[in-house]
This record gives sequence, C-alpha cells and structure tokens, in this order.
Amino acid sequence: MKILGIESSCDETAAAIVEDGRRVLSGVVASQVDVHALYGGVVPEIASRAHTEALCGVVNEALEKACLTINDIDAIAVTYAPGLIGALLTGLSFAKGLAYSCGKPLVPVHHIRGHIAANYISSPELKPPFIALVVSGGHTSLIKVEDYTRLTTIGVTRDDAAGEAFDKAARVLGLPYPGGAAMDRLASEGDKKRFPFTIGKVHDAEYDFSFSGLKTAVINLVHTMEMRGEKIEGPLKADIAASFTAAAVKTVCKGVEKLYESGERLPLVLSGGVAANSHLRAALKALTDKAGVGFFVPPLSLCGDNAQMIAAQGYYEFLDGKRAELAQNAYACMQA
Ligand code: KG4
Ligand code: ZN
Repeated sequence: MKILGIESSCDETAAAIVEDGRRVLSGVVASQVDVHALYGGVVPEIASRAHTEALCGVVNEALEKACLTINDIDAIAVTYAPGLIGALLTGLSFAKGLAYSCGKPLVPVHHIRGHIAANYISSPELKPPFIALVVSGGHTSLIKVEDYTRLTTIGVTRDDAAGEAFDKAARVLGLPYPGGAAMDRLASEGDKKRFPFTIGKVHDAEYDFSFSGLKTAVINLVHTMEMRGEKIEGPLKADIAASFTAAAVKTVCKGVEKLYESGERLPLVLSGGVAANSHLRAALKALTDKAGVGFFVPPLSLCGDNAQMIAAQGYYEFLDGKRAELAQNAYACMQA
C-alpha cells in the first residue's frame, strides 16, 4: 500500500511516498531555514506563507521521484497536530483538497507519532512494544508504545523542549541558526566539567523533564561574563557549550535511567531533531547497553522533520481505521 505523506508543522515543507509503512519510494523537503535565519527563529506567519508556496511543488516532486502519479497512491497522510497552527493548516488544507479531488482516503497523523515512526523505516525489524523518547524543537516526551497506534505517555517536559534549550544556548553563544548542530560540534571541543549546571528536576514526577532553568542559567552565565567584559570565544565558548550539553543530556537521560533501573526491559527508541545530537546518542547507547536492552535511533536524515515518518505512521493509522473528514481541524497543542 502506497501512502503519500505531507508534513508542514513548523519550518519544513515535506512530502514523501512510503510503501507499507517501511519502504521509502521518495522523500522531498523544502527547508525554510534560510528565510528564518534572518530573525534567529521561526516566524510563524512567514512559515505559513512559505508552506503555501512550496506545497504543490514538493508533492509533485515526491510523485515524480517515485515515478508515480496521484492515481497510484492509496491514501494521503497529513500532520494535523501539534505545531504552529497556521503552518499545520496549510498542509492539512492542501491534503484535504487533494484527497477530496482525487477520491483518496485522508489519514490524520500526530507529529510525535510520526517522529517515532521514523524508526520503522530505518529499522525494519522494529515492532512495538517499546519505549520511545522523542526529543525535538517543540517536544520532549517519554512514551510507552504498546502498539503502533496505542501509546501511553510516561513523562513530558513541564516547560521548554530540549531543542528549545539547545537553540537558545546556541543563540546566546552567537552560533548560527538553527543552533543544535553547531552546539553539537562546539561541545565536542570543550571541557564539560568547567561550568557545573544544575540538572532540572520536577518534584514528585520522576519521569517529567524541565529545561527552562538550564536555559536561563546558560543565558545568565553568558550575560554576566559579557558584563564583566569577557569575550565569549575560543576555549571559553567551547567549555560553555560542552558544559551546557552535558547538563542537557543528563536532563534527558535522568528519567530514562530511572525507568530502566526500575526493571523496564523493553528496547529504547530515540527520535526527533535533537536525536541527531552525538553526545545524547552516545549517552543513551551506554545507558541501554548497561540495562541490557536494545537501542534504536534513525539516521540524521530522518531525525528532523520529514514526510517519510508521516507516511510511515499514516500506514498504521490507516490499518487502524483512522480517517480525516473534510471537517478535520488542526491543533497546535500536544494533547490533540
Ligand atoms: O524535530 P525537529 O526538526 O522539529 C520539531 O518538531 O521541533 O527538531 C528541531 C530541533 C531544533 O531545536 C534543532 O536545533 C535541534 O532539533 N537539533 C539538534 C541537533 N540537530 C538538530 N539539537 C542538538 N544537537 C543536534 N545535533
Ligand atoms: Zn518535529
């Protein structure tokens, strides 16, 4: 079964065709990074307009690359939540129109479920149940995936997402937007023990995450140094990046470690844009090795937002009977 996936929840316009939830026939991403770099972050209205301009071309290119026409597609899967509401609406409206005009079923896909499904593409042997850790620019969640469409949240961030903290830390260090990848490289050059940041804890919720304290701490540290006339460059800059990264990685790993210490035996499946972070990957690999459980993570190309993951999850949602009517709405929030 061939599914056309469409993703437009943030700043990437993406379309892909995936067969039976696992085999990628094509994948196209039109990134808006250059447009938003000017402002140091995603500008929602500009994102929506750029999606509107890119959608048609991106979908056509995905069909062409797979040597298919829309008639060969069995269903259309589209991200309906969570994300920037205007951005989501562009992709959802486009998908509704396309599905209606071609008489194809439309399947609504939750963005977080999509991120998890990136692993079904890179690891064909992977099947639920497993523990999913989703770390992205907008979300940080620990989830028990009981079945492809049956998920239970174990822990979530109470404030900022891991990626938000990485991006703000990168910005205050003067790294180019988007900062995650640049922070990753810089952190490898620094001394992670030089600035001992406090690890965020959530009282009475051992599996929840908190990144806002860490984000504020790194911003305050840099501003204080600048006020003292210190130049944030060279080894000092690398040491701040390394110390921040070590604390962010610990904040992500704390709940996961607790879960495995409490006797959890299911494999760990990492996903989301921050899953590209080499320090986080290494820490989780060591943690899962110690626990004696499997560890899955997608290649870098499937960590950030893409439509392959939406088409992959769309296949399992389709099998489960999920359909979007023309009245289907988009939702900015996680709980949709
Ligand atoms: O999943 P994604 O593309 O979008 C959301 O759904 O939010 O994630 C984007 C986030 C950004 O915050 C970006 O800085 C971060 O992923 N990111 C990284 C790395 N590569 C991307 N963060 C840390 N280390 C990286 N190597
Ligand atoms: Zn995402």
